[in-house]
Amino acid sequence: MSTVAPLREFVVALTDLIESGADEARILKDGRELVGKLVAKDDWLPDAFAQPHPQYYQQYLLYADPRERFSVVSFVWGPGQKTPVHDHTVWGIVGVLRGEEREVTYRKTAAGAYEQSGNGVLGAGGVTAVSPTIGDVHTVENALTDRASISIHVYGGNIGRISRHVFDAATGEAKPFVSGYVSDVVPNLWS
Ligand SMILES: [Fe+2]
Repeated sequence: MSTVAPLREFVVALTDLIESGADEARILKDGRELVGKLVAKDDWLPDAFAQPHPQYYQQYLLYADPRERFSVVSFVWGPGQKTPVHDHTVWGIVGVLRGEEREVTYRKTAAGAYEQSGNGVLGAGGVTAVSPTIGDVHTVENALTDRASISIHVYGGNIGRISRHVFDAATGEAKPFVSGYVSDVVPNLWS
């Protein structure tokens, strides 16, 4: 029987962590553990927030803190779907719930372009993090060619409303964007 209780428990624990006054380093450390626990079992995400789109990766809002201190988003990647090179401007923790994802990280060169600084594949249960202090520019893509992958992202703000950037890696040119969310509803945490 599927239940959203793990998501509710995650939201409560993260709210407690934020309200404890934790700095970013502690949020990333303790938050990673919480995200790891959330994605350790793939039995709680309602199907409505797990649907791929034939063309575009999907960003379903699962929860937004009323003070916009954090947000929780389900990213659903169809085969071949990939982000542009982008930043976040706030901390973010990513846990893979289903399938596999490839992340390529970038660093800015002296000339102002972006060059690859790392490359890895995360399987289900794997967790990674970004932030302006530890490295905030990357691409993410579905590492599987035959089915969707799903990751749960937690950000230190209401990510769908934050103005951030996509980059032309070769030139370093930055274009502002606001991602929004594809969904008009959120899960009932109390169902
Ligand atoms: Fe990202």
